[in-house]
Amino acid sequence: MASSRVLLFQFYPLLLLPSLLYPVSSISPHKIPRLSPFPKEALILKHPDDIFSESDMSKDFKTYFYEQTLDHFNYAPQSYATFRQRYVVNTKYWGGPNSNSPILAYLGAEASLDGDLEAVGFLTDNAPHFKSLSVFIEHRYYGKSIPFGTMEEAMKNDTTRGYFSSAQALADYAEILLHIKQKFSAHNSPIIVVGGSYGGMLASWFRLKYPHIALGALASSAPILYFDDITPENGYYSIVTKDFEEVSESCYQTIKESWAEINEVASKPGGLSLLSQRFNTCSHLNYSDELKNFLDSMYSTAAQYNHPPNYPVTMVCKGIDGAPEGTDIIGRIFAGVVSYRGKRTCYDTNDYNYPSETSVGWQWQTCSEMVIPIGRGQNDTMFPPSPFSLYQFIKDCNDSFGVPPRPHWITTYYGGHDIKLVLKRFGSNIIFSNGLRDPYSSGGVLEDLSESIVAVKTLNGSHCLDILQADKTDPEWLVMQRNIEIKIVEEWLTRYYADLQALKN
Ligand SMILES: *[C@@H]1O[C@H](CO)[C@@H](O)[C@H](O)[C@H]1NC(C)=O
Ligand SMILES: *[C@@H]1O[C@H](CO)[C@@H](O)[C@H](O)[C@H]1NC(C)=O
Ligand SMILES: *[C@@H]1O[C@H](CO)[C@@H](O)[C@H](O)[C@H]1NC(C)=O
Ligand SMILES: *[C@@H]1O[C@H](CO)[C@@H](O)[C@H](O)[C@H]1NC(C)=O
Ligand SMILES: *[C@@H]1O[C@H](CO)[C@@H](O)[C@H](O)[C@H]1NC(C)=O
Repeated sequence: MASSRVLLFQFYPLLLLPSLLYPVSSISPHKIPRLSPFPKEALILKHPDDIFSESDMSKDFKTYFYEQTLDHFNYAPQSYATFRQRYVVNTKYWGGPNSNSPILAYLGAEASLDGDLEAVGFLTDNAPHFKSLSVFIEHRYYGKSIPFGTMEEAMKNDTTRGYFSSAQALADYAEILLHIKQKFSAHNSPIIVVGGSYGGMLASWFRLKYPHIALGALASSAPILYFDDITPENGYYSIVTKDFEEVSESCYQTIKESWAEINEVASKPGGLSLLSQRFNTCSHLNYSDELKNFLDSMYSTAAQYNHPPNYPVTMVCKGIDGAPEGTDIIGRIFAGVVSYRGKRTCYDTNDYNYPSETSVGWQWQTCSEMVIPIGRGQNDTMFPPSPFSLYQFIKDCNDSFGVPPRPHWITTYYGGHDIKLVLKRFGSNIIFSNGLRDPYSSGGVLEDLSESIVAVKTLNGSHCLDILQADKTDPEWLVMQRNIEIKIVEEWLTRYYADLQALKN
């Protein structure tokens, strides 16, 4: 199936921060799970047969490259350099030039655009309704929008990495969107920006920073409050825990007890060999952390992408609870692995760790400005304690890149503290959508901040479900969530057109 090939690089939604540059033995507790709208595996679970094929896609989508400014914020000679940035346009349903029909623009996140074109259906699904132009823009340093030629070259040294930031990315989007308006004779076409996860943060920040370019933003599963100390550090893993507990108390208990059990077995002579055998690992375990980190990533991924109709958390727990009577804890945990990941000849505990363009890029982003403090205390989750240490995080990043991160820059530049107070009378037209089973919803905006900065949430939703391609099997609450969002966007547009008309008269 062509589509599964296209999505292959979306494989590793969780990032073990230091593992790229260090042997796995020096595992640090500081994981910042990747923020992609979808993992490859969840998509394939969702639509085993009917993901549309590459050729369906390319028929209506046309790819362009924009000669983008490398550095928007500096007049030093080297900043006049440019790079080619990819954007993709679908005009099929658009009202046409000078029609003032809207533009729905997807702001790319920490991955190539290829996977998004297929998975993020919100724009195309709703284009006939809005008569909108659909635009997808790739984030700099990913996919086919990498300065200095290749990712390797781009990540080579301080100078080449220095242009890799969210502020530069937003400025890219501003330039390209104005360019598109001109190219398509769409001067008065209102633009709605759409993004998921990190891209959702970008969408909401874009509306606040560039109101003259975007009329509104749909920010799906955007944890804009998971910075500094705004959200408790255990927010992420507390929700992972709650997801499992709600599906099955016994499953949750088994997982909670399993860590000590694994340690116990590992500490005995031959213990790691025994664990390797019992988990059927592809290579021999050198440390129990290799197994524990794999399980941690697996549970977190299942919770983050707990999408219908399969609901991965339920799949894991079916395995754990469904093991034959008398199965010990280790056996039950392994049954959970098999139930979720399928029957395999062996299980690669490094599955979530292999470096990819996304993991390399996201590591830099988290080690420069996107410092999301995720940790766990004693007994507050089903996982062993692993408090976030900013000191250790800074040290690891400094060791990796030679520069310490700026953990307070995001809240300095975009805000986040006292958001209810700040946005009560500033800004407008932002939808923060969340599924409350998404661990990242702990850092999301879950309450209306004003009349037009609103929260649209679902009890049983997970990460970025609303912007994914609609499907016949979607549950009622997801269909309703999307309908509410569409209605809100319609209201923004109606008011905009009335204002436009009034100014013309
Ligand atoms: C970084 O790499 C660029 C591109 O290859 C090169 O021109 C520059 O001199 C390097 N800078 C440093 C500080 O090494
Ligand atoms: C154990 O270490 C070897 C050598 O570094 C490595 O190839 C292997 O993948 C490690 N095992 C696991 C389970 O990570
Ligand atoms: C954590 O829970 C265990 C078992 O319920 C208990 O023995 C232990 O005292 C608790 N630790 C803390 C710090 O609350
Ligand atoms: C970063 O590393 C350099 C060189 O190893 C060291 O001199 C510097 O103090 C470190 N900075 C921080 C904030 O850890
Ligand atoms: C959410 O899921 C729970 C458990 O699966 C179910 O009982 C409940 O009805 C669902 N709620 C909604 C709003 O669909």
